[in-house]
Amino acid sequence: MTVLRSSGEWWREAVCYQIYPRSFQDSNGDGIGDLEGIIRRLDYLNDGTPRSLGIDAIWLSPTYPSPMADFGYDVADYCDVHPDFGTLETMDRLIRACHQRGIRVLLDWVPNHTSDQHPWFLESRSSRDNPKRNWYVWRDPKPDGSPPNNWRSVFGGPAWTFDEVTGQYYLHSFLAEQPDLNWRNPEVERAMFDTLRFWFERGVDGFRIDVVGRILKHPELPDNPPNPEWRPGDRERFSQLWVYNHNYSDVYAEVRRIRRVFDEFPDRVAVGEVFGTPDEIARYYGDPQEPGLHLAFNFHFIHERGHEPTPWHAPVLRRIIANAERSVPEFSQPCFALNNHDRSRFVSRHDADGRGRERARAAVLLLLGLRNTPFIYYGEEIGMADVEIPPERQRDPARFRAIGRDPARTPMQWDASPGRGFTTGEPWLPFGPESPNVAEQDGDPDSLLELYRRAIWLRKELSSVRRGKLSALSSDDSVVSWCRSEEGTPAVAVAINTSAEPAIAKLPFTRGRVVLCTNRAMEGLLASGSVELPPLGAVWAIETEG
Ligand code: GLC
Ligand code: CA
Repeated sequence: MTVLRSSGEWWREAVCYQIYPRSFQDSNGDGIGDLEGIIRRLDYLNDGTPRSLGIDAIWLSPTYPSPMADFGYDVADYCDVHPDFGTLETMDRLIRACHQRGIRVLLDWVPNHTSDQHPWFLESRSSRDNPKRNWYVWRDPKPDGSPPNNWRSVFGGPAWTFDEVTGQYYLHSFLAEQPDLNWRNPEVERAMFDTLRFWFERGVDGFRIDVVGRILKHPELPDNPPNPEWRPGDRERFSQLWVYNHNYSDVYAEVRRIRRVFDEFPDRVAVGEVFGTPDEIARYYGDPQEPGLHLAFNFHFIHERGHEPTPWHAPVLRRIIANAERSVPEFSQPCFALNNHDRSRFVSRHDADGRGRERARAAVLLLLGLRNTPFIYYGEEIGMADVEIPPERQRDPARFRAIGRDPARTPMQWDASPGRGFTTGEPWLPFGPESPNVAEQDGDPDSLLELYRRAIWLRKELSSVRRGKLSALSSDDSVVSWCRSEEGTPAVAVAINTSAEPAIAKLPFTRGRVVLCTNRAMEGLLASGSVELPPLGAVWAIETEG
């Protein structure tokens, strides 16, 4: 069994796995996944052999005490565990059990807002002269009684809620149950930094940082300008340009201060949830003298602007890759994900012609073949699709006004039993109709799960794929391809055919061998100069002698 090696910058070569704790594994039959359940499934994630997935780190969506207005993204105590998930003692055991297997643990840090039930907010709202009043953003109504400015909440409606008791509005970028912290107040900064230290001291290896791009707004809180491209019927939150409350310039300085807290502890990593253009994302990395986040998520394979899903189309993928390669500073690297708990799952996004599962196979070679720290979302490795949730079972509070995220949060499908191996009780969200599951794919060499396992374990063997530079190859409308190379090791070419016809991919070397393919029968084939890709298929080919 591997033990945790202390190596700076372990995250550069890591493959990470996002767990939505409610939905991974229930251990006590209440239908809600929990930490004890995750502990039981660690061998699936990495038992040190290629029979397991072989991931290097897990990120847990929030496990803190919370009224669950936004399923944990409304934190009522940053330094404890919600009883649904376990206790601090369970978390300690989980961290230890992970470390014994060489798995690092990232938690989710939610700095932009707390729950309205957090003691800080309860104090803050209790009176205008409470010492914590200024921990949140309170403003007088306009003379006509309306909110202080025109900002809209990400979940719809105004970003302000009037508080009868003290006669002022408070700001909330998300739900009214998620009041925004005032990061201009040094006491807030100090208290929040201490929550990081609390977990670092318990051995946590890093954090995914929730909507970090919103923590600092323009100090005067001016109205946002209207979005000229917005049309009635489009999502309300895009009706204005988020000039003054998103990726506002002061955020970048604050991120560097956050980074310094990470640097108080060895080998910790900060991964930001950020949105924006490639350059806006890249800015979060800071510079070598004054680094910001170690990694900033790039969600452009999911959506680029607004909410439209990114098409699976070679020129689009090529543009996203090229932009990331161009903009992310050389001292770090991109960080891609194809799925997360906020968006429709990959298989469903690309299933208009019923071939989403084929594309999901090619996506494995894309995600793991890029120069990046990849994040896999639980269930992605077995091709879980969105589950249609009947109205009476819907749980996501954003469902009325925003995107309805329940379909991508349904319980992990471990087997075909009534509880799907997830629970002995009634699951918090329905399983949906028959679905791919781990048991049926385990050991089937043609399954998606085994393709993920092969790709991840192969990546461990091929240092050019883990850390080589990326050079783009000439590509056309059907194929996007690139080469990963590192001095002294064989180069690896990656080619993805996004068309439904076979296609030829040129190789950057004279002779090569297919080491990984969406169609397993092609693995081992020798290729000279080029390789023929199956429809919607993909290959990794390694440079060979001669
Ligand atoms: C992030 C989370 C999302 C949450 C929101 C508010 O976007 O991923 O689930 O609702 O922040 O915290
Ligand atoms: Ca449980």
